[in-house]
Amino acid sequence: MRSIEIVDNRDDSRFLVPRRAFVDDAVLEREYDAIFSRCWLYLGHASELPDPGSFLTRTVAKRPILFNRDKDGEFRAFFNVCPHRGAMVCRERRGKSRAFMCMYHGWTFRADGHLKSLPGSAGYKDDFKQDPQKQLTAVPRLERFGDFFFINFSKEGEGLADYLADAGDYLKLVSEHSSSGMAVVGGTQEYSIRGNWKLLAENSVDGYHAASTHATYLDYLKNANGALGATPLEGTGRNLRNGHAVIEYSAPWGRPIASWIPLWGEEGKTEIDAIYSELSSRLGDERADRLARQNRNMIIFPNLVINDIMAITVRTFFPLKPDYMEVNAWALAPVEESEWLRKYRLFNFTEFLGPGGFATPDDVEAIEKCQAGYGAAADVPYNDISKGMARDNGVSFDDELQMRCFWREWDRRLKMAEA
Ligand code: FES
Ligand code: FE
Repeated sequence: MRSIEIVDNRDDSRFLVPRRAFVDDAVLEREYDAIFSRCWLYLGHASELPDPGSFLTRTVAKRPILFNRDKDGEFRAFFNVCPHRGAMVCRERRGKSRAFMCMYHGWTFRADGHLKSLPGSAGYKDDFKQDPQKQLTAVPRLERFGDFFFINFSKEGEGLADYLADAGDYLKLVSEHSSSGMAVVGGTQEYSIRGNWKLLAENSVDGYHAASTHATYLDYLKNANGALGATPLEGTGRNLRNGHAVIEYSAPWGRPIASWIPLWGEEGKTEIDAIYSELSSRLGDERADRLARQNRNMIIFPNLVINDIMAITVRTFFPLKPDYMEVNAWALAPVEESEWLRKYRLFNFTEFLGPGGFATPDDVEAIEKCQAGYGAAADVPYNDISKGMARDNGVSFDDELQMRCFWREWDRRLKMAEA
């Protein structure tokens, strides 16, 4: 196929991405080979598997995955695929089990992946059950960073901590919201978007679109008595290396950790103040101030987004077609959070970030309208991603440095795979 050339010219501040990258089947195929089959991909959070025997099933880059803990509590990740004829072995979303029986012919596997029993075993040779090919296949690599688990479908390449580069410290920051641990709370948000997956990667760290795309939400907050504080929207964008990037900024909305707004009343203020002083004594003033008063939207290349804003959203998305992706999102919260604050957090999680909330439907609409525009990709061929490139006095959170970090890594990986 014709190669897809990004224009990245620092001398005259031009950064252009060909729209063909969003519509071409051959590009998607290359992305699955060069990116999704070789990068570290988020699988789940330790809190989702609290006990030995806990399990959950997920689809990661089209592969059905079983993420579980064996009887000794060890975390494991298997392809959720029967070695017999390939049926999906575990069909439950989550639960607790010491063994998994395939529904097709009844082969049964222990939580450590070993074939435990099979009906009609007299029909097989004696050592059949010990054959390595008859066991559940482990995903080539599973690693954790704090309580965040990632998998890699390739045995080659850097370990997780090196891959995460400077994004590691931001993941740590998310964990530091709590002295007793963070946990996934509430349900999973699942939705699909008729748009290319890279549009959501861009949108998730796009500080530029807030005022126009989310005007309805901002108006609503202005009109809802006390839902906005006095803090203005301002901050910076940062390159976290390896395609990862973040925007970090102050904003007028309340943060359960630990930024008070008038809506929460005097009683709420006492609780928020207490959380803030615990943060400061545990982490020092500077880190506590960042944690409590700054918001962060981070993309970890290629498709993990962590929005630490009026709630914490952990979001992944995978393309099934160039113009179609499936999105999953979870809320993360301090284990010890009070019932009162948890209520606000979950309200925020659905009110702004939920698929039926005030923000996500607007973002989805913007993404789908871009995708529709790419019907004319051959005639009007480029997206502009140059905002802030000419600035020499630092990067603003509403510049487009974050997207350029993403695209440079995208480009590098596609070229590397081709070479
Ligand atoms: Fe699983 Fe036959 S496909 S037991
Ligand atoms: Fe948005």
